[in-house]
Amino acid sequence: MARTTLVLHTRFPIGEVSPLIFGGFLEHLGRSIYTGVYDPDSAHADGDGLRQDVIEALRELEMTIVRYPGGNFVSGYHWRDGVGPKESRPTVRELAWQSIEPNTFGTDEFVKLCRQVGWQPMIAVNLGTGSPEEARDWVEYCNAPIGTRYADERATNGSAEPFGVPIWCLGNEMDGPWQLGHVPADQYAIRAQQAAKMMKDCDASIATVACGSSGSQMPTFLEWDRQVLEHLGDLADYVSLHRYVGNRDGNSADYLAISNSIDKQIEAVDACTRLVAEQRRASGRAWLCFDEWNVWYRARGQGGGRGTFAPPLLEERYNLEDALVVAMFLMSFIRHADCVKIANLAQLVNVIGPVMTRGDELFKQTIFHAFRMISRRKTGVSLRGAVLGPRYTSERYGEVACLDHAAMLDGDRAHVFAVNRSLDEDMRLSVELDRPIAKVVDAEILHAELRSENDFDAPDRVSPAPFDGWVVQGSAEAVLPPHSLTATTFALK
Ligand code: AHR
Repeated sequence: MARTTLVLHTRFPIGEVSPLIFGGFLEHLGRSIYTGVYDPDSAHADGDGLRQDVIEALRELEMTIVRYPGGNFVSGYHWRDGVGPKESRPTVRELAWQSIEPNTFGTDEFVKLCRQVGWQPMIAVNLGTGSPEEARDWVEYCNAPIGTRYADERATNGSAEPFGVPIWCLGNEMDGPWQLGHVPADQYAIRAQQAAKMMKDCDASIATVACGSSGSQMPTFLEWDRQVLEHLGDLADYVSLHRYVGNRDGNSADYLAISNSIDKQIEAVDACTRLVAEQRRASGRAWLCFDEWNVWYRARGQGGGRGTFAPPLLEERYNLEDALVVAMFLMSFIRHADCVKIANLAQLVNVIGPVMTRGDELFKQTIFHAFRMISRRKTGVSLRGAVLGPRYTSERYGEVACLDHAAMLDGDRAHVFAVNRSLDEDMRLSVELDRPIAKVVDAEILHAELRSENDFDAPDRVSPAPFDGWVVQGSAEAVLPPHSLTATTFALK
């Protein structure tokens, strides 16, 4: 059995891991909101129609921030349709996903949900078919003290206290021709600049996220980001990145090497933001906000709602290898703690989600467990690591070590995440730190057949188990099975 050594040094920090990289995303899309988090007809609904069984499951993910209401949806959304007495909210045709939108869930319901679960709300404004002024008005509705028009409207709707929404996205995927109101970079930059200025004039404490490229495959990748950042200057606190991946040709060795290209995407956008900051002689810079990421390749198809209410769209089912890839995204964000400050798993329920519902039933997908195993160990400083051990060359993503990892120093503790990407070989892993390891505080492992999934009838087929394989003698050594994720917290001497 090949031996791998992970060498870590507490004096080689990358940066404090931002808790906001453990975020999620809820869009008015398919059964994400309606029959997902909000279902007044469910036996699990509270007085506000929020499904308590779903909320309980989502709470376990320990997410910190949730983006809303889209996604592509937001580029046709007018927020005033979703506030006020429900009887007078309009039912509208939704064009991004070709569905019917009753608007019975809107801003107030979203903020209530965030408060129940303990999430910070993060709102994306409509810069597709909406105006910069409409975006400004939404900031007033959410964040201004009473005494002016929209703040008073919020009070009339039941919330005298401002919602205090801290982070606002300036539209969604505006570089994509599929986006309602898509325009070239220079035109988007003007719209976003106008909106950001008025939004910040209304509440100077908010932070804004400019739309970066919606993927590294886009023909305008980086050029779009450069133009937008240059024009927005200090009005952009963050720039967004999006990425959806999958095992389209059934090549698992290749798929599990995808972290190379996630790292590369982050490093390219980071370089672009640094370039613009240098050129502008700016003292600050835009941070990276990876506000949509996940595995998504099976349940594709845009606009498939056929004009119905809550159609079953994008209901991707996940297996173990997808869970390992979800862990790889999070490990990449941790390794890039010096520039990635926010990230949102897209999405939460039913729509490419870690939680699935059917009537009043619910189950947790494989990716739920990978996310939870890392997110419950979210505090600390990311550490640079050197990996000595076997490697392989993947077809698309180049050479990778069989071990993918991230590590964090949290006071007298260290969190170590390890994926053995080998499809058939155990890995003897030794973790060496400059400070001796005293003991294992807790450790868990996610391991099953590569293509196993959970389901309503087999909800725990893939679920984490306690891991007692570490032998600690200053360093720590364990045998990790092939295609597995291990998450460990060590106490240090
Ligand atoms: O998350 C699903 C969709 O993916 C979002 O609406 C859009 O922003 C992206 O293309």
